[in-house]
Amino acid sequence: MRVLKGLIDNNRRWSEEIRGRIPDFFQKLSQQQAPAYLWIGCSDSRVPANEIVGLLPGEMFVHRNVANVVVHTDLNCLSVMQYAVEVLKVEHIIVVGHYGCGGVQAALQNRRLGLIDNWLRHVQDVMLKHEALLNAIANPMDRLNKLCELNVIEQVVNVSQTTIVQEAWDRNQELAVHGWIYGLKDGLIQDLKMEVAGHKELADVYTQAMQNISKLKDLREPN
Ligand code: CO
Repeated sequence: MRVLKGLIDNNRRWSEEIRGRIPDFFQKLSQQQAPAYLWIGCSDSRVPANEIVGLLPGEMFVHRNVANVVVHTDLNCLSVMQYAVEVLKVEHIIVVGHYGCGGVQAALQNRRLGLIDNWLRHVQDVMLKHEALLNAIANPMDRLNKLCELNVIEQVVNVSQTTIVQEAWDRNQELAVHGWIYGLKDGLIQDLKMEVAGHKELADVYTQAMQNISKLKDLREPN
């Protein structure tokens, strides 16, 4: 337990610092939350959701798993989405991948790591779907980063096709799904221009986003 004391001390300082600036911050927040965003990102310790986009507690609902995968039957992720959309009424769902993702790399290299290999099969599905595009990239790091981008785009499609998002659009609820990618080397987010706000948009936006990432070299993280 002694080794964790530093964390508790940090927590005391953090809480004091916020209460110093906004005395009733936690008091007010404890009554209710009204976040406008749902973040679906990777569990990677280098990609902390709120910090990257400068949001305080209460401003973003967060779901993270290895390689930011949205699986049609994952009750955990679906429950987060359902609560966020139907109860909290978030207006934006943002799928955020990151360059150099270890989960995506393991999938790409078909590495054997144990139970997680089963989870990463979903990323391998993305890889197989875009095999031609990926095979045309000679540099292994570029190929990995391209798969990181493709994975985000495909997960935005998966989010958009859930009953939760489809039904929200059916009742004209304000809800947009976005695809972003974060650079570990510069701390910057790139918008993959995969933004869907209704049934009819999905196919066109997907085609456009795919064309974009097929030609845009500057989306790649600097080596
Ligand atoms: Co990752």
